[in-house]
Amino acid sequence: MMPFSAPLPDLIKSRRSCRTYEKKPIAVETAAQLRGFAGSLQQGPFHSALRFELVAGGEKEARTLKGLGTYGFIKNPAGFLIGAVGPGAKNLEDFGFSMEALILYATSLGLGSCWLGGSFSKSRFAAKVRATAAEMVPAVAAVGYPADETRLRALLRTRIKADARKPWHSLFFHGDLATPLAEESAGAYAVPLQMLRLAPSASNKQPWRVVQQGACFHFYLQRSPGYHRNLSPLPSFIIADLQRVDMGIAMCHFQLTAEEMGLKGEWSVADPDIAKPNETVEYIASWTGK
Ligand SMILES: Cc1cc2nc3c(=O)[nH]c(=O)nc-3n(C[C@H](O)[C@H](O)[C@H](O)COP(=O)(O)O)c2cc1C
Repeated sequence: MMPFSAPLPDLIKSRRSCRTYEKKPIAVETAAQLRGFAGSLQQGPFHSALRFELVAGGEKEARTLKGLGTYGFIKNPAGFLIGAVGPGAKNLEDFGFSMEALILYATSLGLGSCWLGGSFSKSRFAAKVRATAAEMVPAVAAVGYPADETRLRALLRTRIKADARKPWHSLFFHGDLATPLAEESAGAYAVPLQMLRLAPSASNKQPWRVVQQGACFHFYLQRSPGYHRNLSPLPSFIIADLQRVDMGIAMCHFQLTAEEMGLKGEWSVADPDIAKPNETVEYIASWTGK
């Protein structure tokens, strides 16, 4: 179904946020492929209307980023992937899902990328894609050819622990949200779950939790209250609920890997009423394997 040039686990393992790019525009042919794929993403798994565009990057855009609440510094971005999503109960999950598919596609074209969450909805980024009042621009992604990391930038990766992921047993559960799922018990789904665990997330908070119950995998969001407080001077209400975007990204890694392995299933929103440890845990959606 997806036109990736390498197996998804390879792409997922090789992707990492790239914040310094070579001063080089994206090759015409590559940009055309990226635009073609971006244009094909018009709906997420929960049917919100979406659209994505590739726009050229510039110093102006790179400078504006900070004022919009993003963290880290993006150097020489060749372009930006900008998406707009319409209303819908699961529109941020849909946005995260589809934008991550686009990012994995960019990875398969040899491009580096970095998700950037901020208050883009009224910014010059939104203007570039002519976002309407009914649409949101929850995040954008820088893209370009990766350049070598400077020590300062490597330091940022250390500060936000970019390479670390929470252990399997603290993310994946069996039957309820208290009983860890043994990796051996996950069967063929161990691989999609391993690939989910490598997903990028805002400030690397990894808010995803999954409960397996028979053929179902229930996805939960473990909120990190005020997680961007220390990184952004802006009040949180201006910034989209990025942890819901994180959930969509995780669902993308899970579904695309499963499908590549021939594991079929579908998403639904039907809360299984599993006891939650506290109110910072929210039910999002379930995958039912067929
Ligand atoms: C929704 C979202 C928003 C993000 N916002 C920013 C940002 O504003 N600035 C930044 O430098 N990185 C941002 N990131 C990148 C994360 O910091 C990064 O994915 C995480 O630390 C894991 O590192 P990795 O992507 O290299 O695996 C964002 C990631 C996501 C998923």
